[in-house]
Amino acid sequence: MAKLAVPLLIFFFLLSCIPSQAAPPLQTPLQTPIQKDHSTSQYIITAYLKTPLMPTKLVLDLGATYSWVNCDDYISSTYQHVPCNSSIANSLSAYGCEDICDGPPGPNCANNSFLFLLDKPLETVDYKKVNSLNDALVDYLALLNNLGSLSSIDNFIFSCARTGFLKGLAKGVTGLASLGNSNLSIPVQINKAFSSSPNCFAMCLSGSISQPGVALFGSKGPYNFLHGIDLSKSLLYTPLIFNPLGRDSDSNTHRLSPEYYVGLTAIKVNGKMVAFNKALLAIDDQSGSGGTRISTVVPYTKLQSSIYKAFTLAFLKEAASSAFNLTTTKPVKPFRVCYPADAVKTTQMGPAVPIIELVLDRQDVVWKMFGSNSMVRVTKKSVDLWCLGFVDGGIDGPSIMIGGLQLEDNLLQFDLQSQKLGFSSSILSKGTNCADYEFPTRKV
Ligand SMILES: *[C@@H]1O[C@H](CO)[C@@H](O)[C@H](O)[C@H]1NC(C)=O
Ligand SMILES: *[C@@H]1O[C@H](CO)[C@@H](O)[C@H](O)[C@H]1NC(C)=O
Ligand SMILES: *[C@@H]1O[C@H](CO)[C@@H](O)[C@H](O)[C@H]1NC(C)=O
Ligand SMILES: *[C@@H]1O[C@H](CO)[C@@H](O)[C@H](O)[C@H]1NC(C)=O
Repeated sequence: MAKLAVPLLIFFFLLSCIPSQAAPPLQTPLQTPIQKDHSTSQYIITAYLKTPLMPTKLVLDLGATYSWVNCDDYISSTYQHVPCNSSIANSLSAYGCEDICDGPPGPNCANNSFLFLLDKPLETVDYKKVNSLNDALVDYLALLNNLGSLSSIDNFIFSCARTGFLKGLAKGVTGLASLGNSNLSIPVQINKAFSSSPNCFAMCLSGSISQPGVALFGSKGPYNFLHGIDLSKSLLYTPLIFNPLGRDSDSNTHRLSPEYYVGLTAIKVNGKMVAFNKALLAIDDQSGSGGTRISTVVPYTKLQSSIYKAFTLAFLKEAASSAFNLTTTKPVKPFRVCYPADAVKTTQMGPAVPIIELVLDRQDVVWKMFGSNSMVRVTKKSVDLWCLGFVDGGIDGPSIMIGGLQLEDNLLQFDLQSQKLGFSSSILSKGTNCADYEFPTRKV
């Protein structure tokens, strides 16, 4: 036996050194910078679309079913319509069909063309003024890969929208990127094309005016930031929840929401429980309201009115305690709790204010929010304030919508395979930030 063992070991050693011929070079994660537009608080990715590939700015929406692109001046040599009876069309139920189009043929006019119905991704669009029936198109979509060049998928499906949809979107933006829980979202379409990569994407939003954050598709890590920091190693996990009464174009068909929810169970301020009606934290199985949604299209976390009231009272009390000794001043809308900036100390984690903790499915799964994620600097003519960046969300819809400010400089990993969310809490505590992601060197 001993005689045999040595050659066998050598054999296996040699075998393990032979590079696998079949494996293509690692292309994923596919990645894109995410730039915040400060006048609209929208987060914008750059994808490459059409033939020839054109950089296209799209608003990132974690809650949209499908992506759409302004098609009124869409020029590409490779786009195709989706025939109504095709296998693609049949896999997407509850949509429409345009049998005959009278106008000149083009991206928005073809016979036997599959149509997307209204998906209401953004509140700013007035759907009464624009045609909400839009042709589905298939074309190339490319993103920067791990090797520094572009990787494309040739059958990216999106909706061909009218210019009216662009109202309210940041300057230079020509559409919307769906990262929602849907078979048509960008991460899932990428996963279909690169099926050896995990069905998982990560997002790190930067609040910086000039420096972008990053979205990474098809990777569970490593997520490499400057100074050798791999953020995939510092995540806590909580199940992703999907609203069974999700938004849909057809109110008669109940299908899962494209939005991501998490199972928040409690809120603490400075270590103390905030008392409120916990029933609001469940998704109501009659109306679909309630629950805790994550949203990239609301700039500040929205809390249901009664939660908002209890939360701000708790925050005011803790901020006034001797540890912080903060006295409020006249607030600036939409905020209701503001302090003079010169009264607030600054730390590595932003302004020194009571810590907010979101307790998730387990007592030890806690999303911590420090001043950098809870406070907004408001500087106007004669005022310089730090305001609590949470707003009253009224009584309809989700009870809590965790918004942009609260997501910045946090790494979020959406594992669609295991249906769980990995989150880092503020990465400022690790000496890095979302603008410190190391993009591969671009090869021309
Ligand atoms: C789609 O298929 C159905 C059933 O086979 C048929 O009745 C219908 O006319 C087809 N529609 C188009 C636009 O081809
Ligand atoms: C659709 O078909 C009709 C005839 O069936 C034709 O007149 C029309 O030009 C076609 N439309 C397009 C956009 O090709
Ligand atoms: C995606 O497609 C698969 C198979 O067609 C289906 O089982 C699944 O429910 C779909 N997921 C969503 C979110 O639509
Ligand atoms: C708290 O702030 C007030 C003024 O805002 C100051 O007079 C007082 O000395 C401070 N107390 C402590 C304990 O720092």
